[in-house]
Amino acid sequence: MTQIGIVQEGPDEARVAATPATVQNLLRLGYQVAVEEGAGTRSSYSDEEYRRAGATVVPRADAWGSAVVLKVNPPTEAEIGLLSAGTTLVGLLSPALRPDLVEALAARGVTALALDAVPRISRAQSMDVLTSMANISGYRAVVEAAHEFGRFFTGQATAAGNVPPAKVLVAGAGVAGLAAIGAAARLGAIVRATDPRAEVADQVTSVGGVYLPVDVAVEKSTDGYARATSEDYNRRAAEIYTEQAADVDIIITTALIPGRAAPRLITASDVALMKPGSVIVDMAAGQGGNVEGSVAGERTVTDNGVIILGYTDLASRLSAQASQLYGTNVANLVALLTPNKDGALTIDFDDVVQRSVTVVRDGEVTWPPPAVQVAVAPASAPAAAAAEVPAKQPLSVGKKVGLIVAGIAALFLVNVFAPAPLPQHFTVLMLSVVIGFYVIGKVHHALHTPLMSVTNAISGVIIVGAMLQITDANPVVQVIAAVAVLVASINIFGGFAVTRRMLSMFVKGGSK
Ligand code: NAI
Repeated sequence: MTQIGIVQEGPDEARVAATPATVQNLLRLGYQVAVEEGAGTRSSYSDEEYRRAGATVVPRADAWGSAVVLKVNPPTEAEIGLLSAGTTLVGLLSPALRPDLVEALAARGVTALALDAVPRISRAQSMDVLTSMANISGYRAVVEAAHEFGRFFTGQATAAGNVPPAKVLVAGAGVAGLAAIGAAARLGAIVRATDPRAEVADQVTSVGGVYLPVDVAVEKSTDGYARATSEDYNRRAAEIYTEQAADVDIIITTALIPGRAAPRLITASDVALMKPGSVIVDMAAGQGGNVEGSVAGERTVTDNGVIILGYTDLASRLSAQASQLYGTNVANLVALLTPNKDGALTIDFDDVVQRSVTVVRDGEVTWPPPAVQVAVAPASAPAAAAAEVPAKQPLSVGKKVGLIVAGIAALFLVNVFAPAPLPQHFTVLMLSVVIGFYVIGKVHHALHTPLMSVTNAISGVIIVGAMLQITDANPVVQVIAAVAVLVASINIFGGFAVTRRMLSMFVKGGSK
């Protein structure tokens, strides 16, 4: 049976590549799992828990001697020396930034799979560690800021006076940025956010932030990632950052353009405008920094008392949670590589995900993989489509008056010339159209489906009519009436069932 080894990370990393729960997923795929002694301790997972989950706990050399080794961070030179030829190593390998590491792994004759090379396509989302780690890190950035900030995030009215809510600015509303906005808003702060991709405005609002637009057009994203911004854009954005720096208490920066150094957004003079005790978390400190004066991995304090955090290990600072998500992502990748659940790891180069993550195969460098057509970000497609459709123009006053006059004239003509019951029915129809238009027009789009299904129940009136006809002497009428009763009943009960199902989607966690 193939053995998967879970090894202990270096002293600066608290995460582990598998938790007791994800060990069980690996066992179900037909593998045997060997965990290095103490590998999960810094993530609060004891050796005993791994044993209970079905793994064996083994000395370091035995874990590294496994056929498949799962890891979080890139291996050190000494660790590469522990790998035997033919082993498959899975971890964060930064192949684009570490050609030396790729060469060293190839020279060792191993197969190396880089989890940070999982393409951002929907099918690979369950293996996308960069997204799950950025999400955790955005949350943790807020926790770090709140820890350093000497005040409440939420506003309070107390007997000792009123406390205003903290003001937070988040620059860059990608995965980490949105997580930070959500976390800060849930703590009660006023949160504002910038991002050159205008399509994120709705997402910012939905997690509780206010989107600050920079009114300069930017090249449209075709893959969900930002393009480099123009000088005009940067100039206007810089004005916004200067205004905001003088006003906000916390700044969290997450701006990134793939393949480039982090854009510099907050200057030293912006920082100088901030109040003493304000906090900046520069999440991009490891990529050159969005903030002038931030130092990767360090906490610095400026002359005017602003605390700048350049931590690069935010996910590791939430290690139990991060290990659980990382472990799940890894187990999902292993499941993809074990199609028959028989404990035999296979790599299929015709599969775009497997091809993308494979950096070295049996000692042969296979990096970089062919480019993957990344799906357009969901929000940008409708936005682009909308741009091509001419916007609906509201009716001019003249046209509105014309339509009202035409309606009144039609009503008058029908009332004067139509035979007896028609004018009355026509008036009811007209009034229903007007009332229906205004009632449905005021209902939120998200509720249109439950509204439609519940209005199906109105077809109950058909049942009343059909029941009156069902005693008719003519058998044809009886049959039609019976069919009408059946179909209308389906409509009514089906309508209520759909409504119930739709509305239950709006009920939070089982509360009624
Ligand atoms: P992402 O690609 O999902 O988001 C980056 C966002 O920055 C995008 O929405 C993009 O439109 C925006 N952006 C680009 N140029 C900008 C500009 N000039 N002004 C404002 N926004 C701009 O990336 P993700 O996954 O959210 O990561 C964000 C950053 O956080 C990266 O630098 C990443 O390396 C870093 N990170 C840091 C961690 C830590 O421990 N410090 C952990 C995880 C991620």
